[in-house]
Amino acid sequence: MNNQRRFELCGIAMMALAGSAMVGCNKDAPPPPSGDSPPTAPAASAAGAKKHKGTPEDPFIVGMSQCNLGEPWRAQMNDDVRKAGEKHPNLKVIFKDAQNDSLVQRSQLEEFVNQGVDVIVISPKEAAPLTEPVSKAFHSGIPVIVLDRALLKEDYTMFIGADNVKIGREAGKWVADALGGKGSIVELKGLMTSVPGQDRHRGFLEGLDLKAHPGLKVVFDADMQWLEPNARKEMESALATHPKIDVVYAHNDPGAHGAFLAAKQVGREKQMKFVGIDALPQEGVQYVKDGVLNVTFQYPTGGEEAIDNALKILAGETVPKKITLATRVFTHDNAASGGNAIP
Ligand code: FRU
Repeated sequence: MNNQRRFELCGIAMMALAGSAMVGCNKDAPPPPSGDSPPTAPAASAAGAKKHKGTPEDPFIVGMSQCNLGEPWRAQMNDDVRKAGEKHPNLKVIFKDAQNDSLVQRSQLEEFVNQGVDVIVISPKEAAPLTEPVSKAFHSGIPVIVLDRALLKEDYTMFIGADNVKIGREAGKWVADALGGKGSIVELKGLMTSVPGQDRHRGFLEGLDLKAHPGLKVVFDADMQWLEPNARKEMESALATHPKIDVVYAHNDPGAHGAFLAAKQVGREKQMKFVGIDALPQEGVQYVKDGVLNVTFQYPTGGEEAIDNALKILAGETVPKKITLATRVFTHDNAASGGNAIP
């Protein structure tokens, strides 16, 4: 059945079900289980659970699975979701913290399905282990919004996140420029089993353009798995083996900060520049203002957009398959005035 037909049938089903929840009636909703049968109301899906009415007495339930809460950026994302959710008394968000464990996150998806939540929002830890569990939840009839870290298949309702290749590319261009095309670089990568780590690496190499700048060299790289203590340790190894380091590019601000601390400990922090990503006002942007980082690129959380779109889905509106969030660059010169947009 094509999308148009599914949409029409959905409209008929919606009229018949006037007054009840209309979840899943968008063109991205999973197809009905067999042939041309009309779309099943989500109430009949997901473990047969009765869907919520979306009133203050019986609010819609959004299940939010966060891959971990150990980093400020993750806490910010949950805060953004919470604040956006609080504006709508007809909606309640249930938060789960997967504590940086993909298996735990998979079981959280299963719990949300069994519980019969109305929408699932997930910011997954890793791509491979969570692609199928997300598919399964989606095909149980629950709309799924994937935030920030992409998966291997687009088997969900929608994805919301910034363009990590673009951010990496901007970082690469900034480094090539700041070094005048010549110098030694350390790259501290985010978790390479997650798509943002892969994309920030690929974009960085594009932006560096080593063919055009043969004087640039990545002399050390390591996977610090997005974590500041790991970044600090890896940087200690880099410093021990490389007497000359001109730039550290870390895939997030905690990583750049960890590298800075390692360099400071051996009195070398002034010999190099530090580049980070995230640009939270209280974290990366503050580091730039304090002269700890030279530059950071904003990576918006998408928390508010997740709630806005969950509400649209619950109202039966069509949502785009992908929303790409804008980014900004913060340097010493523009941090106080809010950074510059990157077109
Ligand atoms: C937090 C974080 C951010 C980073 C994002 C990438 O867990 O590491 O610092 O920008 O995840 O998904």
